[in-house]
Amino acid sequence: MNILVLNGPNLNLLGTREPAVYGSATLADVEALCRSAAAALGAGVQCRQSNHEGELVQWLHEAGAEHRAGRLAGVVFNAGAYTHTSVALHDAIKGTGVPVVEVHISNVHAREAFRHRSYLSPVAAGIVVGFGIEGYRLAIQGLVHKAAHDAPRPPAAG
Ligand code: DQA
Repeated sequence: MNILVLNGPNLNLLGTREPAVYGSATLADVEALCRSAAAALGAGVQCRQSNHEGELVQWLHEAGAEHRAGRLAGVVFNAGAYTHTSVALHDAIKGTGVPVVEVHISNVHAREAFRHRSYLSPVAAGIVVGFGIEGYRLAIQGLVHKAAHDAPRPPAAG
C-alpha cells in the first residue's frame, strides 16, 4: 500500500518560518517522520512539495489514476494557504475521487478568521489539525486504516 504526501506553498520554509507557530522541524524532518510512520504500518510513501497550485492539481490527478489502479491508498495533503483559497484543489479532489486527508500543523481555527474557511474540508476523507508535525503520522494512520476497512473497489471495466 502506498501513500502520497503533498505539501503546498511555503512549507519548504519549515524550520525557519514562524517557529512559534510551526515549530522548528524542517520539511526534511516531516518527510522522514512520514517515511517512518508509513514503514511502521508496512506502507510506502512518496513526498512532494510545491509552491505552485497547478502542479498540486496535476499531482492530485496522477494520484487519482494511481488510486483507481489500486496502487495508492490516498493522499496526505497540507495545502498551506491554498486551503483557504483554492477552488481548483477542491475540484481536483472531488473530480478524481482520491481519498485525501487534510493536515494542518497549526490549529487554523484558533488563528485569523481567513484561515477558518477550508475549500478542502468538504471533499476530504478526514482532517487533522493542530497536532504539529505529528499530524502527518496521524493522517497516515487514518489513511491506512481507511484503506484496510473500506469495501474493495470493483475491478475496472474492460
Ligand atoms: C498551514 C496553515 C495555513 O493557514 C498556512 O497558510 C500554512 C500552513 C498549517 O500547516 O498549519 O501555510 O497549512
